[in-house]
Amino acid sequence: MSNKKIIIAIDGFSSTGKSTIAKQLAKHLNYIYVDTGAMYRAVTLFAMKNNYINNQSFNQEKLISNLNSVQLNFKFNANLGFAEMFLNGENVEKEIRTIEVSKLVSKVSAISEVRKKLVSEQQEMGKEKGIVMDGRDIGTVVFPDAELKLFMTASADKRAKRRYKELIDRGDKVNYEEILHNVQERDHIDSTRTDSPLTKANDAVEFDNSDMGLEEQFERIIRLVNDHI
Ligand code: DC
Repeated sequence: MSNKKIIIAIDGFSSTGKSTIAKQLAKHLNYIYVDTGAMYRAVTLFAMKNNYINNQSFNQEKLISNLNSVQLNFKFNANLGFAEMFLNGENVEKEIRTIEVSKLVSKVSAISEVRKKLVSEQQEMGKEKGIVMDGRDIGTVVFPDAELKLFMTASADKRAKRRYKELIDRGDKVNYEEILHNVQERDHIDSTRTDSPLTKANDAVEFDNSDMGLEEQFERIIRLVNDHI
């Protein structure tokens, strides 16, 4: 008998290693992996490119009225082993990870119209199950009936160090204080916004990976998965 396909929802603060574990899980189970943060980042990039938002101002109405012109697609890249984000046909995978986008994304993702559009696209992607999705509201709003929900946490300092290393490794010029400030500011905005704030679902299993190695974490999670399939 083949295993039953399930939905795995992974939520948590920024840079808690959600995407690393989600990618690993998807590969192991031969599931689809969806990084919903990439979708919010791509909408933010769209708003930046059209001058609806910058560090000083944000024309929310303009963004809302032009949301129909935002087309998001994931295309699997076999060399990388995961799907890259495309915005209106253009590969924006690298551009959406910059600190400039990180600084504005929480403001864009607080808008209900943006969330409504992306949540419905995410639900569509999970219709057939066999999916690992990470974000902030996956276990609470997108898939409240997901068979397995994980909630990842780690100290702000550990998370900022991870993010700093990632950006430095790819050649970006950033300083640690700026990253730490961004991580803390996003934690605050993401968990206090009115629409779908980041919160742990009652039935989610919490993982604090401040001091947990990747392997140990993966093994524990696989055991949970096996209980469900
Ligand atoms: O996972 P990430 O750091 O790439 O996400 C970027 C931002 O997008 C995050 O600060 C909040 C927002 N987000 C959200 O509001 N809901 C999601 N499901 C995923 C991300």
